[in-house]
Amino acid sequence: MVSSRARKVTTQTLQKMKQSGEKIAMLTAYDYSLARLVDGAGIDVILVGDSASNVMAGNETTVPITLDHMIYHAQCVINGVDRALVVVDMPFGSYQGDSKTALDSAIRIMKESGGHAVKLEGGVEVCESVKRIVEAGIPVMGHLGLTPQSIYKFGTYSVRAKEEAEATRLIEDAKALEEAGCFSVVFEKIPSELAKQASESLTIPTIGIGAGSDCDGQVLVLHDMLGITKDFSPRFLRRYADLGSIIEAAVSQYVEDVRSVDFPNDEERY
Ligand code: KIV
Repeated sequence: MVSSRARKVTTQTLQKMKQSGEKIAMLTAYDYSLARLVDGAGIDVILVGDSASNVMAGNETTVPITLDHMIYHAQCVINGVDRALVVVDMPFGSYQGDSKTALDSAIRIMKESGGHAVKLEGGVEVCESVKRIVEAGIPVMGHLGLTPQSIYKFGTYSVRAKEEAEATRLIEDAKALEEAGCFSVVFEKIPSELAKQASESLTIPTIGIGAGSDCDGQVLVLHDMLGITKDFSPRFLRRYADLGSIIEAAVSQYVEDVRSVDFPNDEERY
């Protein structure tokens, strides 16, 4: 008998999890080795996030990362995953132009990376593209609230939809994404009460990051929750490990051992 842990996660699995009240656990990954560990630990969804632009490439924003870069990261992740659903972010500039461009970009991601679904940012304004991509047989995850690809429009990474007009707009956008065919939507950095209301009014699962505990699932950036990135400490981030300090200590010990000719020793040579 195959255990339910080993069963592959699909968009239908996530829908059933929402219906039964089982929370969805999602994390980012960008490479084979960490994706393999994350998948083996039982994660439901792996997001090949365009946050790769920050944590992999060291860019200040997600704006510079390209479609080719995203496809490369997604290929690496796919090679390490047996169970999780792998969602790949569509990078800035690959879908905002028109729905044909969006479809072409989504098709490239699916064909060249082997990913299982794509994610894009925005509400009503991206619905035509969502419909076209879904009609082509590609599952789409939406992303509302703080949308990092629009950082130059908003100017800050502060909490979104605190005012009533913006909150109403967010619910309308979420419903429009659901109607357009999204299988799920991410809510980033919005008040928890709003996330609760939106999650209750949608039939598709919602995934929160800085959006409280009433979303149907949670997502964090892997390098943030593992403590590899140290200069990013928003209130919503729980650090589950301090790998940054462990790596620094290991590397400085290695440097010391090489310099003192303690490494390699007699057992570590041929
Ligand atoms: O790119 C990313 O990591 C994301 C998450 C923050 C949801 O979009």
